[in-house]
Amino acid sequence: MSVPPPLQPPPASSATPLLYRPVKIGALELGGNLFLAPVADYFDRCFRSICVEEGADFTFTELVSAESVIRSRPDLKPEADPHPVNALLRRADNEEPYAVQLFGADSARIEAAAALLGSWRPAILDINAGCPVPKVVKTGAGSALMRNPANLGRVVEAAVRASRRSLGGIPVTIKIRSGWDSDSLNYRECARAATEAGAAMVSLHPRTRTQNYGGRGDWTQIADLVSRLPVPVTGSGDLFVPEDAERMLRETDCAAVMFARGAMGNPFIFRETRALLLTGSYTPVPAEERIGAGFRHLERLVRDLGEQKACREMRKHFCAYTKGGAGCPALPGSAALRNKLVQAGTVEDYRRVLGEFLPGFSPDCSSPDRFPKPEPSVRDHLTRPGF
Ligand SMILES: Cc1cc2nc3c(=O)[nH]c(=O)nc-3n(C[C@H](O)[C@H](O)[C@H](O)COP(=O)(O)O)c2cc1C
Repeated sequence: MSVPPPLQPPPASSATPLLYRPVKIGALELGGNLFLAPVADYFDRCFRSICVEEGADFTFTELVSAESVIRSRPDLKPEADPHPVNALLRRADNEEPYAVQLFGADSARIEAAAALLGSWRPAILDINAGCPVPKVVKTGAGSALMRNPANLGRVVEAAVRASRRSLGGIPVTIKIRSGWDSDSLNYRECARAATEAGAAMVSLHPRTRTQNYGGRGDWTQIADLVSRLPVPVTGSGDLFVPEDAERMLRETDCAAVMFARGAMGNPFIFRETRALLLTGSYTPVPAEERIGAGFRHLERLVRDLGEQKACREMRKHFCAYTKGGAGCPALPGSAALRNKLVQAGTVEDYRRVLGEFLPGFSPDCSSPDRFPKPEPSVRDHLTRPGF
């Protein structure tokens, strides 16, 4: 498969603000503003590595409990230890830089957990203040943090302290929602509390906790935060096709956008969005390449989880790779294909079923290097003696 040369930004003109642009988050400089959102149970490091290959400029781990970090002491374990917390924290080889996202409601516990993350060398420590899941909110964490902005500020402050002491002063960021419910839209107050406590970026998913993932997010709240905050704002919510990202960047002037459900089974959304922002158009990815990326994903999962678990885990991903979404239409005949894929128990099963679907298909599992990244300038401090 031939690899096209990376797209270069056209020269800036005063008439058209550049929508694909670098982002500065504290001392961290990222080459572009297309991020992969944290998504629990979907965006493991194997999938994230494919997204980086397809042009994601920055990635986040899914939310990791501060309590579980403190209990499992990942600082004392080698990275290859298969402990579940290690599996959540581990980055992919090409995931440089990445963010670790922590959740918790107790500032002292967040500080203690953050202090144990040094050996993982995150470039950002992100605090989750948006998760709506009952198991999380009942502890006062996730979106429940927004019910108490003063405590949210203390949590960020504690993370900043831990970062200065133990993580080389990496930026601390936060991801929030609009508020708890429509009667308590307090994203402004929470964002202010977070930035006053030292947050270097705020990501906003403009739905309330009560809305969960239903309805549509209110992007005017993103524009509102952009106009008020002294730090970059990243927009999240309802980014299913490249045109959505273009519209969010244009309408809200946010510094960056993060793809979540729109990237499930569709890591190509980064490549396509980059092309759209830089050249005004993009070429949809052919079926063979979509399936090929799915197979690459499977190979990496096998290395991490073993064949049996990887094949089970891959079922939901392969359904997404073939089903498509708003931005990538379902592959013809893919419903029958999915019926067979959900029964695949071995890599050979996947190879056979996919080979029947696309005659002549032969997976190429080598990593395309379409978007080589410059070394981020902030890495210097991570090699400091004692870090
Ligand atoms: C299954 C699922 C898991 C998610 N897990 C996380 C998470 O771990 N941390 C987080 O900050 N947001 C999480 N989110 C929220 C997404 O990052 C994103 O903000 C949200 O889905 C809105 O974007 P979208 O409408 O483009 O999907 C999750 C969303 C979904 C659908």
